[in-house]
Amino acid sequence: MKRKPDARDFFVNTYPINAYPNPWDYVVDDYDIRSKSRRLWIKDEIYAELVKIKNQFDGYNCNTILDVGCGAGTLSILLADEFRVHSLDFSRTMLERLKTRAKELKKDVAAMINADNQKIPFKSNSFDSALCKFALWPVPNPEETIKEMVRVTKSNGRIIVIEVDRTNGYELNLRSKFGYRIYKVLKKFVRVRKWKKQKILHDDEAWKIIRETTKNNPKINLSFTKQVLTSCGCEITAVDTSVKSKINGIIGKLCGGQCGGHNYFMVCAKKR
Ligand SMILES: C[S@@+](CC[C@H](N)C(=O)[O-])C[C@H]1O[C@@H](n2cnc3c(N)ncnc32)[C@H](O)[C@@H]1O
Repeated sequence: MKRKPDARDFFVNTYPINAYPNPWDYVVDDYDIRSKSRRLWIKDEIYAELVKIKNQFDGYNCNTILDVGCGAGTLSILLADEFRVHSLDFSRTMLERLKTRAKELKKDVAAMINADNQKIPFKSNSFDSALCKFALWPVPNPEETIKEMVRVTKSNGRIIVIEVDRTNGYELNLRSKFGYRIYKVLKKFVRVRKWKKQKILHDDEAWKIIRETTKNNPKINLSFTKQVLTSCGCEITAVDTSVKSKINGIIGKLCGGQCGGHNYFMVCAKKR
């Protein structure tokens, strides 16, 4: 039976043969620090504060940070005043947006690296800290990403992971489903003209592909992250499971936060 064409066909037909079809390129607006709708969901500066606190530790001067899976740089940009930030992402479009925003906001991001976070192209012991916010779940082998983060961090340096607990799959609770529906209608209303004009794939289709290909990675949870970090010889120095309640904006509160009823966690570890 002939399969109904879906979002996947868009990529196959659009990209040259053998080029990597990267759906993340199409959701860049959702990760833009200047996106108006983003502010309704979350307060990025609170994430930045949490990371700053964890990177100011006794007897250790944190100077260089690697932001792993940085997206369009919501964290990189906010940390750039105090640290030398290197930002790594698989999506060139995300990095291009980061470059544009950093220039506009006069923020000095030290370097942007287009690479796979499961194979970080830096020598061992290169950074004082490596952080990863919501960029473990998209990869097939998140344990490799954590190992790589530990490898490129100097001894006594910090590794920080902020993620969503995906243990129980990705079913949204009722409140979130309702909130998301309203948000989607509003978003379509605002963006549909832009999509039509540019003849581009809209982000709902790209999200569909991301969800299908990652299966929302049920591997990612607090105990998995702690276990991989300790198996790499790190000491867990802090765990925070109340992140979500701190960072929600108005719509975030209404919908029970991004990612529906799922909780977030933040783990901070010291490389011995
Ligand atoms: C959910 S977004 C998080 C972005 C950013 N850390 C934030 O919190 O705003 C996930 C990011 O991981 C990136 N990504 C996905 N797979 C990757 C890989 N294998 N290596 C590096 N980055 C990857 C995507 O391009 C995307 O920018």
